[in-house]
Amino acid sequence: MKYLVVVFCMILFSCGSGERVSKEVFDEVNKNMEVKRLTEAEILQKAMIWGDSISTQAQGQLVSALTKAIADGGPEGAIEFCNVKALPILGEVGEANGIEIRRASNRFRKPSDKPTEQEKPILEAYEYNAENNIASDPNIQKIEGGETYLYTKAIVIPGAFCLSCHGDPTSEISPKTLEKINALYPEDKATGHRIGDLRGMWSLKIPKSEVVKRM
Ligand code: HEC
Repeated sequence: MKYLVVVFCMILFSCGSGERVSKEVFDEVNKNMEVKRLTEAEILQKAMIWGDSISTQAQGQLVSALTKAIADGGPEGAIEFCNVKALPILGEVGEANGIEIRRASNRFRKPSDKPTEQEKPILEAYEYNAENNIASDPNIQKIEGGETYLYTKAIVIPGAFCLSCHGDPTSEISPKTLEKINALYPEDKATGHRIGDLRGMWSLKIPKSEVVKRM
């Protein structure tokens, strides 16, 4: 009888402990599947690639809408188009990706494109580089306690296409276009540019959670 009790206890113990181990293993596997173990560096790298692709996509959308507007109504007609449509186009890109996207410039056309305190030092670095013929790399940094990334990329005037609205006001911008610009943007600082000039920068606020979601 005594012998039987010992055997019974051994079975109980082995079953109990066996069950405990397998549950731990089970939990661990589950945890690994649920919580992607990503390092900060991996998330930052992904945010950088993603920021680059979103800003490239936004640039493409603006340029193709602008090209169509110029074909329909000439540069002077396209001024009105930009005035009304540039922000909603960027708004849509931002919403689709769960981020905030805008352009900032010290030589702004739209007053709301004036740089924020956060953007100012980065924009100044891009300006310094442009003045000294140094190429600017995109930049990414943590803001808002580390839960959001600020991705920025310099916008350089790539070609003559931009000059019909951002070039020399006496020779490259037509009087009609200039009139429209002055009427809609009385504070405009965005003329007198040449090819290769820094026009401003892309500025994207990317929540870390949105980056992780996509990894
Ligand atoms: C048809 C005229 C036109 C052309 C061509 C044009 N832009 Fe603009 N651009 C505008 C207008 C108008 C705004 C203000 C948009 C707004 O109200 O949101 C603007 C704003 C911008 C801004 C935002 C910063 C600011 O000054 O407010 C950047 C950056 C910019 N343009 C870059 C370019 C580049 C680069 C090109 C060439 C690829 C280009 N633009 C071609 C009319 C033009």
